Amino acid sequence: MSTSKQRAVLTSLVAAIAAVVSVPVAAAPEQQQQPKTDPMASVRGAKAWSDNCMRCHNMRDPKDYRDDQWATVMQHMRLRAGLTGQETRDILKFLQGSN
Ligand code: HEC
Repeated sequence: MSTSKQRAVLTSLVAAIAAVVSVPVAAAPEQQQQPKTDPMASVRGAKAWSDNCMRCHNMRDPKDYRDDQWATVMQHMRLRAGLTGQETRDILKFLQGSN
């Protein structure tokens, strides 16, 4: 048996839940996109390059390859070196900016 007070609490509870549920999800601010130009990318890339790319072999001169060739090399060396996507993009940016 419920009292009118209990019914009133229940009613306002349902109203509160309905209000929360009806808040549009799209109202949440979009996650900030990474800027298209990232001036620090090749700086980070140069460091990641010197940290990772001479563990297994001598340093390859950035001038040894064209931009498109570096893109292919990095596909392979990313796996060998176990790089993150960000490290791979940064290193590629550095290499393509230094050849
Ligand atoms: C885990 C070991 C390892 C790491 C770390 C590594 N490499 Fe290599 N790399 C190799 C091996 C082994 C080869 C020999 C060619 C092959 O098997 O693809 C090679 C070959 C290359 C070549 C010659 C590619 C070709 O087609 O002949 C380049 C350029 C190169 N690596 C660049 C890099 C760069 C840049 C990095 C850092 C992102 C890197 N490597 C990190 C193992 C490694």
